[in-house]
Amino acid sequence: MQILDGSALSSKIKETISKDVKELKVRTGNVPGLAVILVGHDPASAAYVGMKKKACDAVGFYSVTHEMPKDISQEAIEKTITMMNDNPNIDGILIQLPLPEQIDANRLLELVAPEKDVDGFHPYNVGRLTTGLEGFVPCTPLGVMRLLNEYNIDVKGMNACVVGASNIVGKPMASLLLNAHATVDICHIHTKDLKARTLEADILLVGVGVINLIKKDMVKEGAIIIDIGINRAENGKLVGDVDFENVSQKCSYITPVPGGVGPMTIAMLLQNTLKSAQRR
Ligand SMILES: NC(=O)c1ccc[n+]([C@@H]2O[C@H](COP(=O)([O-])OP(=O)(O)OC[C@H]3O[C@@H](n4cnc5c(N)ncnc54)[C@H](O)[C@@H]3O)[C@@H](O)[C@H]2O)c1
Repeated sequence: MQILDGSALSSKIKETISKDVKELKVRTGNVPGLAVILVGHDPASAAYVGMKKKACDAVGFYSVTHEMPKDISQEAIEKTITMMNDNPNIDGILIQLPLPEQIDANRLLELVAPEKDVDGFHPYNVGRLTTGLEGFVPCTPLGVMRLLNEYNIDVKGMNACVVGASNIVGKPMASLLLNAHATVDICHIHTKDLKARTLEADILLVGVGVINLIKKDMVKEGAIIIDIGINRAENGKLVGDVDFENVSQKCSYITPVPGGVGPMTIAMLLQNTLKSAQRR
């Protein structure tokens, strides 16, 4: 069994991005700029935004976080997004999800200028992804594909099983795998016999948010396991959706949590923002 080391690869990518930022600055006088919209005081969201800001600082990006109270109006957030769309120093706009109930998240995501949609959540970019056209791809699934590429894993012809079908993880993950010519099965909460499906998988990708959802008897011998889940265990430690200790005895490759997909997500956010700045 081999560990797919997302931390190591993410560091390598960030080094390259730092160099590219310096080069961009010399050539144009600009550095990439990322604006983050954070609504409310969800500790997990605040922690993710903090990590993104730190990563931006480390590679020399300009970044700004618009912190807004939980009871903010739709209109006020829309105004900020429009301002960021028009701000020439901003190359990427990120709306930290989830949002409070009174807010229509889809309307906000559609308001972000597609050329600044570094999260790849705008329907324009979603459409480009499903049709196999160039565009912004959601950072987590993009990071998974980059990690597989680093280890020379080609999914062409493989049976891929994606567990979790959200717009930000499962669905774009499935599109990328299909675009790379895997045969893709997508499972979710209403899937009838999950184990029958996961057992068919040459590559199993899990982004659900349930500790130990995937156990050893649900995994085919020699399968590749990608654990996208991030959960806080009772002892305070971060864990994924896969029973790592037991499943790792049976698979060929596996991503750890932490240190697998998480750091790749941040690296891809930086990469997407740099790409946007290079087009500025
Ligand atoms: N590694 C990263 O960088 C990263 C990024 C985003 C999300 N995540 C993590 O991925 C997980 C999923 O996030 P999300 O935003 O897609 O969540 P979500 O709640 O939007 O979606 C969860 C999906 O899992 C499915 N599901 C729920 N329970 C299930 C079960 N028992 N069996 C099968 N399917 C089930 C649901 O139907 C849904 O499709 C979370 O743990 C989140 O923290 C990690």
